[in-house]
Amino acid sequence: MMGKITLAVIKPDSVEKGYIGPILFHIVNAGFYIRALKMTDLSKRSAKKFYAEHKESLFFDSLVNFMSSGPIVSILLEKENAVEDFRTLIGDKNPIHAAEGTIRKLYASSLEKNAIHGSDSNQNAFRECLFYFSHREIFW
Ligand code: CDP
Ligand code: MG
Repeated sequence: MMGKITLAVIKPDSVEKGYIGPILFHIVNAGFYIRALKMTDLSKRSAKKFYAEHKESLFFDSLVNFMSSGPIVSILLEKENAVEDFRTLIGDKNPIHAAEGTIRKLYASSLEKNAIHGSDSNQNAFRECLFYFSHREIFW
């Protein structure tokens, strides 16, 4: 599966605004297969763990509060070249710089509340998929 999977997270801002449906439609239309999906809640502790690479950043506390502020939807996606293609589909983290038609351009409201997460490497994709899903949920 290495190279063929990525982890997406529909962030609390999108869930609150009712964008789960439109975002999933966008993702599936782009050729991604949904292998696993769940709506969950991140505790602050889990949010800190998920974003550990950013723990020294000035935006870390705010990001952790945001990501644990409401339900999220985590999705394990499958496609050839999944990681790179999905990063292209979601666009730049800052919606101001995101290309037209990308998910962040369409649905993000700010650099922090930017609608969706996508893994940035195959190695992180694997780690992040196992953060949200069990082996049994992945390998069916
Ligand atoms: O999500 P992505 O990999 O595109 O960006 P990142 O640099 O790994 O940052 C992770 C998340 O932190 C972003 O998606 C934003 O929600 C948030 N962030 C922020 O609030 N302020 C910044 N200056 C940079 C990132
Ligand atoms: Mg990142």
